[in-house]
Amino acid sequence: MDKFIIEGGMPLCGSVAVQSAKNAVLPLLAASILTDERVIIHKCPRIMDVLNMIQILGELGCKTSFEGETLVIDSADAANHEIPSALAKELRSSVFMLGSVISRFGKARIAYPGGCDIGLRPVDLHLKGLRSLNVHIAEEGGYINCECGALTGADILLDCPSVGATENIILAAVKGNGVTLIRNAAKEPEICDLQNFLNKMGARISGGGTATIRVEGVKKLHGVEYTPMPDRIEAGTFLIAAAMCGGEIALSNASADNIAALIHKLREISCKITVKNDKIYIRSGRTRRSLRMIETMPYPGFPTDLQAPATALACISEGSTVIVENLFETRFKHVPELIRMGADITVRGRAAFVRGVRALHGADVVAGDLRGGAALTLAAISAEGQSSVTDLSHIDRGYSDFEYKLSSLGAKIRRIRV
Ligand code: UD1
Repeated sequence: MDKFIIEGGMPLCGSVAVQSAKNAVLPLLAASILTDERVIIHKCPRIMDVLNMIQILGELGCKTSFEGETLVIDSADAANHEIPSALAKELRSSVFMLGSVISRFGKARIAYPGGCDIGLRPVDLHLKGLRSLNVHIAEEGGYINCECGALTGADILLDCPSVGATENIILAAVKGNGVTLIRNAAKEPEICDLQNFLNKMGARISGGGTATIRVEGVKKLHGVEYTPMPDRIEAGTFLIAAAMCGGEIALSNASADNIAALIHKLREISCKITVKNDKIYIRSGRTRRSLRMIETMPYPGFPTDLQAPATALACISEGSTVIVENLFETRFKHVPELIRMGADITVRGRAAFVRGVRALHGADVVAGDLRGGAALTLAAISAEGQSSVTDLSHIDRGYSDFEYKLSSLGAKIRRIRV
């Protein structure tokens, strides 16, 4: 198991390029089996979630290869419709494969998905949506078994705007018969990226980024060459790192529009942020005003995936901050670890009450999930003294070269194998 050894307290200075978005690439990989022509994805990040998804594609019979940062997928010979439990448990996004596997083979069999342990994370909306498209689903022995004759368009209203369910329904409907409407759809920018990708393959999808998405089924999709959108959560993580450590950094390949909720908050606490084309510049001093209130919401609200890093920032901001986590039930696993570093936090249900302290101090902490692990790393690089962050497998799921990028900015961080 790897861990970071961190000597905290260095200001950050320099520039980093943001990777392509994990949450955009994963559904694109799922979509790649909708054609038997070649799919080429440029700037594909080699993070564990992507590598696991590539392994799942291999299981289905696809050939994949990396040429530098470009991933080439050839699913001409794909023949298997089953995703085994060992792989599905590694990755929640394996469930996004259901829609495209059913579309390709008329059937799918997948073990219940894994991913970050941040709450219940049911898949009922995925299954309800697929059933509306004429898919017969039986759940038995930890597997979801799906079969369908012809996928037929439907008018679907999601009970809540689930990102994964919206994507899964799009993937199933894109080559179905007739028109599918998804109402109360998720509006996350990654949905627009999936829409753009599929439309480039010949799909007819509109409404991505709004609450109603229209998918007009087409007979065939062709190969595509595509560069996914930048990772707004990685960009946000680095902005928060700069806000916590002080200093001045520039992000390239970044979209400020996609993290407006965070940028507004950072400006409120006295960070200077400027935006020029795909670059975001942040300058931060050593003192920060109170964040006051952060409430996670579906896009364009404050993203749940930045809640943990924002909680770390609140720990060393003036005054008190209330953090409300509306999306996932148990997404405060980083809190006990932050408290070990000197944070003053009380959790009651879905709310964390944070009273800012002057500085955190170094400690040995354990990453319990992906974004919580990133938050602890930021806490450690801004803290006084030495820290270790253990169980980097969580962080490696979503951040490529995390420690290299942070050390290029001046943080004292190294990885050791224990
Ligand atoms: C995606 C992101 C994840 C992010 C989350 C919310 C990917 C790969 N992951 O996850 O990083 O934290 O969006 O922005 O894109 N729900 C149900 N039933 C379902 C599906 C979801 O009740 O069938 C609930 C969930 O429990 C949760 C809420 O809907 O409370 C949002 O979940 P959802 O948007 O589906 O998240 P994911 O797609 O899993």
